[in-house]
Amino acid sequence: MSERSALNMAKIGGTVLLLTALLVATTTGGLAAPGDMFFPRGTEGGAFAPTVFPHWIHRIQYRCSVCHPRIFEMERGANDITMESINAGEFCGACHNGRTAFAVGFDTCTWCHKEPEQ
Ligand code: HEC
Ligand code: HEC
Ligand code: HEC
Repeated sequence: MSERSALNMAKIGGTVLLLTALLVATTTGGLAAPGDMFFPRGTEGGAFAPTVFPHWIHRIQYRCSVCHPRIFEMERGANDITMESINAGEFCGACHNGRTAFAVGFDTCTWCHKEPEQ
């Protein structure tokens, strides 16, 4: 490799690193937000698919503080979510009420309950 192209490579490498750092800093505020999350508990008894929670899709629309810690403890498995509490307007039901986001109904069960995509 010539001296010049080595210099260019170093420049490009530095730019990519900087962009990556900026992207991480501006999109997550420094904290890593996990992508799709699954709640495995719903599968107990085997009757129902686990719940998918697309963390990223929600994150695009809301600040972390909309959900953490007011609606959800910021720890996987720390929230004792049931359909009863959702239907009472807690947890996912704070928004999935047919006004802010799609409601819980027999036509929407499988929007939240589905097997992880491979
Ligand atoms: C907005 C998303 C969402 C929708 C829509 C939804 N669920 Fe759930 N459901 C959840 C979450 C979150 C849990 C808790 C998951 C866990 O902890 O495993 C859950 C848990 C459950 C459970 C196990 C615990 C319990 O509460 O009994 C069953 C059974 C269940 N859902 C059935 C349904 C059925 C039937 C429908 C359609 C009428 C439905 N769900 C629609 C999100 C949803
Ligand atoms: C629409 C609501 C919502 C928003 C907005 C949101 N989260 Fe979450 N977050 C959740 C839910 C639900 C869970 C899972 C809680 C559980 O498992 O009981 C979670 C879990 C987490 C966890 C725990 C992950 C683990 O593996 O233990 C972290 C860390 C987290 N969120 C960080 C963030 C950050 C950082 C932001 C903003 C960039 C954010 N969240 C925005 C709903 C949200
Ligand atoms: C702060 C409000 C808020 C909370 C809390 C919330 N959601 Fe949502 N969710 C939305 C909005 C807004 C959309 C997009 C509009 C729509 O689809 O109705 C959405 C979309 C979704 C989608 C469809 C994503 C796609 O592929 O387009 C799923 C699945 C979902 N939410 C599951 C959940 C589950 C499970 C929970 C609880 C663990 C939850 N949401 C909690 C606001 C919320």
